[in-house]
Amino acid sequence: MTNTLTSALPAFEDRDDADTFRLRVERYGADLRESLGAVYGGQAESLYERVLGIMGAGFAARPRELRLLDEARLLHQDWLQRPEMIGYVTYADRFAGTLAGVGEHLDHLERLGVTYLHLMPLLKPRMGENDGGYAVVDYRQVRPDLGSMDDLERLAARLRRRGISLVVDLVLNHVAAEHDWALRARAGDPKYRDYFLVFPDRNRPDAYERTLPEVFPDFAPGSFTWDDALGGWVWTTFNTYQWDLNWANPDVLCELLDVILHLANKGVEVLRLDAIAFIWKRLGTACQNEPEVHHLTQALRAAVRVVAPAVAFKAEAIVGPADLIHYLGTREHHGKVSDMAYHNSLMVQLWSALASRDTRLTEVALTAFRPKPTTTTWGTYVRCHDDIGWAISDEDARRALLDGHAHRGFLSDFYSGEYPGSFARGLVFQYNPATNDRRISGSLASLAGLESALQSGDHWQIDDAVQRILLLHAAVMGFGGVPLLYMGDELGMLNDYSYVDHLEHARDNRWAHRPRMDWALAAHVVGEGTRPAGGDVDPARRDAARRIFDGLRHLVAVRAGTPHLHASVESRVIPSPDARLLLLRRDHPLGAMLQVYNVSEDDVELSCGMLRAHVGLAADERLSGYEYSLAPVALMVGGYQALWLTQKV
Ligand code: GLC
Repeated sequence: MTNTLTSALPAFEDRDDADTFRLRVERYGADLRESLGAVYGGQAESLYERVLGIMGAGFAARPRELRLLDEARLLHQDWLQRPEMIGYVTYADRFAGTLAGVGEHLDHLERLGVTYLHLMPLLKPRMGENDGGYAVVDYRQVRPDLGSMDDLERLAARLRRRGISLVVDLVLNHVAAEHDWALRARAGDPKYRDYFLVFPDRNRPDAYERTLPEVFPDFAPGSFTWDDALGGWVWTTFNTYQWDLNWANPDVLCELLDVILHLANKGVEVLRLDAIAFIWKRLGTACQNEPEVHHLTQALRAAVRVVAPAVAFKAEAIVGPADLIHYLGTREHHGKVSDMAYHNSLMVQLWSALASRDTRLTEVALTAFRPKPTTTTWGTYVRCHDDIGWAISDEDARRALLDGHAHRGFLSDFYSGEYPGSFARGLVFQYNPATNDRRISGSLASLAGLESALQSGDHWQIDDAVQRILLLHAAVMGFGGVPLLYMGDELGMLNDYSYVDHLEHARDNRWAHRPRMDWALAAHVVGEGTRPAGGDVDPARRDAARRIFDGLRHLVAVRAGTPHLHASVESRVIPSPDARLLLLRRDHPLGAMLQVYNVSEDDVELSCGMLRAHVGLAADERLSGYEYSLAPVALMVGGYQALWLTQKV
């Protein structure tokens, strides 16, 4: 590409710096410019220069160690796609008290093979209720009880030296009502009023609300909040204290880019773009997934690629499959937006299959997914810090011969434990009487039956629950992407009902599945730290925890040694001859891989003939380490068993 951009480039004292910056702008400047043009029209040219200035300052400030990481990543562009990648997600305080405390528990993470650590919101939030930290008052300060920005930088460096990438949330859609920008807006400064979406009366809010879905229908109904000081209704998609930012204002883009580069220069390697789907509003729509969202991401992504190529973006877009794929870059955005996105649909489908012992709907839903761009990856997970919403479309349900509404109702009944014979112990979150939607909170182990099994003391039930937990993990590790383990799940931690005793959590039962790390249990299971005196743990619980922990470590180790799981390869659904089995095929240049997951407690017979057609007469079953002869007529897939068969080379 010819360099027509040089005149706008910031000056650097060092010639090498100037060259590196120029070369990268030559590579990515067009993406940036194009997206600024698409969003800001006539203002784009001057904005482009302004953005280059911010990038130049960020580049000049980038520490040497991180520049080396940039160079290394440019040589390993697929770093997030590799089968060795294992994510771990936790609140720093719930895991280890403080950021410095997290640094004391790296052995635990290493034992699990973790290479990616997502510390839940840790930038300074408002006091009191703050949506688990997603209401930020200062992007440049760390939550005081966790430590300081210096502590964060130190921890990032420590993690980096152990090969663990630090992942941090970046809330782009809103700030806390107490953020400096909001305070200035309230004080009457028109510059800052324009950082938000404020309406003098209900006309426009009412018009918008006609097509806006409710995010928190229960504790924060509506999407606008009256503010006396502003003398208007301010847009608040989530809670009343989370004010949506006005991305149509280029100042907002510049501010947030500056924040991103600041965090990148502290050593953050992946930015989780919180609620990214919501950042652009358009009358008459749901105000999610609008085209400008992807342009804004592309602009930010291009800028970060120039300044800090080591840094990746992860989109948090909990949206339907047809919309989700665009967050990984389709059409003109191919390869230009986020590197990673949550596979919410896989998560929902696994729970659905487990409850119904039927994978038909899973087959339909996963088959409907368009292949993702080969340079991107999924974040796969069994559960996260949020509730589970039954994101199952009526159309997919119909194609699986189900009624969508009824099936979603069944899943809510099942996972709240109301359904007769259910093994789950979950809690209903955000019941919406208008749609009858009931989302579900609950820890993985409680949802998978461990809580009820331990209560009953029945060994068979405990066994089934452990198997379910391992099966779900096998599926998210086999699907391809970065598996995101949620803290405590490696020990089968149960629901923590004590959230009701904490004023700022009591109304939000998602805290039931955001427990404090049970280090006593960990010590019993893996001999970590000093075993606390008198820290007796029920033997059945300890035994289940040990089996889960060992099982996970085994999965992680097998996964790391299975190149077929590189995320550039797609998992495709193979129609299963038995509704209780889910079959996935991956075509790697090394040979085909066929995965089989039995979502029921029954032993299920599977024809070897059909397996032979995929992986030949003999195949390696990676999870057991055995070679399987597929010459016989059939093989038996045990209850909740997973098979990872790879063609022999
Ligand atoms: C994301 C977070 C969720 C939060 C919301 C608003 O969806 O995962 O916990 O409530 O954004 O920031």
